[in-house]
Amino acid sequence: MTTPMALAYEERGSGPLLLFIHGFPLDRRMWIPQLAGLAKHRTCVAVDLRGHGLSEDPDPRDYSMDLFADDVAATMDELGAEQADICGLSMGGYVTFALWRRHRARIRSLTLIDTKAEADSEEGKKGREGAAASILEGGLEAFNDGLAPKMFRSSPDPAVQEAVRRMMVAPPPAVAAADLLAMRDRPDSIADLPGIDVPVLWCQGAEDILMPTAAARETAAKIPGARFVEIENAGHMSNMENPEAVTTAMKDFLTA
Ligand code: MLT
Repeated sequence: MTTPMALAYEERGSGPLLLFIHGFPLDRRMWIPQLAGLAKHRTCVAVDLRGHGLSEDPDPRDYSMDLFADDVAATMDELGAEQADICGLSMGGYVTFALWRRHRARIRSLTLIDTKAEADSEEGKKGREGAAASILEGGLEAFNDGLAPKMFRSSPDPAVQEAVRRMMVAPPPAVAAADLLAMRDRPDSIADLPGIDVPVLWCQGAEDILMPTAAARETAAKIPGARFVEIENAGHMSNMENPEAVTTAMKDFLTA
């Protein structure tokens, strides 16, 4: 059995803990704009999930959203934080739902960004398996060439594209493949939504083609009292494509 590990992280600011969980196949660096923008209000900590960034994992196996959530809880233990505001984008949102199921007493509030609560369809699961096999065989470059065009708004900022590309090719192929299989096996979180009783902010890029805004709005409406903010001029990487809008929405939410 793979045991939980405390993760590497980057920290800025002071005050109550706000913990950021990145998407696939990225790392803590995607949160740089929010670390800078929210440091006055919170101790902002962006983790590297196992195998990503500085959280090295020489033997990636048995990855699951539950294991990632347990890693986040172990990291909070190390930080001496009983509770945190949690923010996750896309796969980071899937981890956030697992954290809610497994460690809800440790959550003060949730910010969900460009994510969804549904499990993969059967076709989607097969797609994950194909992608994992092709990454193990051919590495991440070719896979990312296919994924990257779907991650951004219709007129992407080349600097953001390049920053994301650098993160996307960084993880070892075995880690990216293990992530994909973990996402394939994640449970549906829809049934959990009506029971979420902490404050929730949900931000979704207006031009997110991977996870369309209208569906996200419907999902967010199943969470009692959730605040939904559509982020203009942004696709799936909304926190990087329109960092001011996401940071402002989070600041308003966290200081309300
Ligand atoms: C992500 O951005 O984390 C991924 O698009 C999530 C997924 O593939 O379901």
